[in-house]
Amino acid sequence: MISVHNLSYKYPGYSRLVLNDISLEVQRGEFVGIVGPNGAGKSSLCYALAGFIPHFYCGSLKGTVEVAGKIIADTTLGELAGSVGMVVQNPFNQITGARFTVLEEVAFGLENLGIPRDQIVPRVEETLALVGLQGFEERSPFALSGGQQQRLAIASVIAMRPDVLILDEPTSQLDPVGTRDVFAALHSLTQTGMTTVVLVEHKLEWIASFATRVIAMVDAKILADGNPLEVLVDPHIQEVGVGATRYTQAARLAQRRGLIPQDRALPVTLKDTQRFFEEPSHD
Ligand SMILES: Nc1ncnc2c1ncn2[C@@H]1O[C@H](COP(=O)(O)OP(=O)(O)O)[C@@H](O)[C@H]1O
Ligand SMILES: [Mg+2]
Repeated sequence: MISVHNLSYKYPGYSRLVLNDISLEVQRGEFVGIVGPNGAGKSSLCYALAGFIPHFYCGSLKGTVEVAGKIIADTTLGELAGSVGMVVQNPFNQITGARFTVLEEVAFGLENLGIPRDQIVPRVEETLALVGLQGFEERSPFALSGGQQQRLAIASVIAMRPDVLILDEPTSQLDPVGTRDVFAALHSLTQTGMTTVVLVEHKLEWIASFATRVIAMVDAKILADGNPLEVLVDPHIQEVGVGATRYTQAARLAQRRGLIPQDRALPVTLKDTQRFFEEPSHD
């Protein structure tokens, strides 16, 4: 579904590579979490997957990016709209300002896709319910709180049902309930097997619970890529400042204090933490 080969990129007027020889394959239905310190290149990778690089940001690009069978560099953003959708880091930037209500805002992208009018309202309603915005149809997008605007930005993209959803820190304005809603909605979309999700997120516990794969980026490169249960306890990830879930931190402390054998794999979620502490130690 996503195929990236030897992708390197510099923003116009800058000499530094922000993506340095990235290669990556993602299958349909995967839920990929991207983690990494600030400046690692996570947003830039999202832009490259969504076509903002090179169609909006020029600069120097090497290598190829293919999403849903389309070579990004050879496909216009308009032609990509049904294949890949992106929720940008700041939800305020995503709101078009062209529409007066939440309902119209979500309908906007569907109209542009040429969806028949009689299908638009039911689809908007369904999507607003999925992100917890039912009842807000007639509000002005600008009268919403930051968290509600973030849900709206996500709804506007999800409604178009792209094959690939790219979300750059989509829960930054949300409380834990809102964060759970968004992750649950994305999870249900990937469970259909039709939607592929790539999501940048600092809240590692949510990544641990929902992502099927984690990619850790640092300094324009991929440092680790694999099963969340392995990547999120990788000591290299700690060293570059990605951190660890509080479960991993507690377990590591218990190991350091000699309470748990050193060879026991560290947990990342509450569920495997219980197992970690319940299993009898070897001695
Ligand atoms: N529009 C831009 N023009 C020039 N440099 C940029 C631009 N956006 C980001 N950068 C630089 O690219 C590097 C990677 O940034 P970014 O992809 O935003 O990383 P992350 O999302 O991991 O924080 C940073 O050094 C940042 O300053
Ligand atoms: Mg970013």
